[in-house]
Amino acid sequence: MDEREIRLRTSRRRLFLKTAIGTGIGLSLVSAFYVGASLRPRVEATPEREPLKPGDILVYAQAGGEPRPIPLEELKPGDPFVLAYPMDPRTRVVKSGEAKNTVLVVRYPPEELSPEVAQHGVEGVIAYSAVCTHLGCIISQWVADRRAGLCPCHGGLYDLAQGARVLAGPVPRPVPQLPLREEGGLLVAAGEFLGEVGVRAQRACCRQV
Ligand code: FES
Repeated sequence: MDEREIRLRTSRRRLFLKTAIGTGIGLSLVSAFYVGASLRPRVEATPEREPLKPGDILVYAQAGGEPRPIPLEELKPGDPFVLAYPMDPRTRVVKSGEAKNTVLVVRYPPEELSPEVAQHGVEGVIAYSAVCTHLGCIISQWVADRRAGLCPCHGGLYDLAQGARVLAGPVPRPVPQLPLREEGGLLVAAGEFLGEVGVRAQRACCRQV
């Protein structure tokens, strides 16, 4: 084997090694990407998880059975609030798969409501997000003597007649109101929530110090 042939074979071997190493790194990166992707929890986008939209019909929050829209006349002033979910009027899918869609609906004598609250309600019926702004529990209890909504997790108390202002507990802000309208005697979302639903994202979390 002359010197020229030895040099040729050496350079071919180097090329082969470089290609093999490059391909190996490439495949490792690809597999790392797929492993990473498969480890990431996937949130299924289903019709039940769609966000509330204007025009959705409010139905009683209940486990199973036919969805039952809430007739305006079934709500009486002074009664405890009811929990509800929005239902797509076209597909009749109840959007109960997303906690942020939970709504509380209550009726007051219209004169007890502040004008700002009353203007987004129907004949004294008003609605709010039921997701507590402290840590995201559902406001599920009615305190009759204060006519207020209670979050049982840490005692957050909301004055629903006055824009859900906070009466007690470690709650940072009111829950947002949901504008309502009436269609055929039923309660329908007239818009989106008038503010951020649930726990506010920590905007200061990632600032460099
Ligand atoms: S989560 Fe509602 S008061 Fe804490």
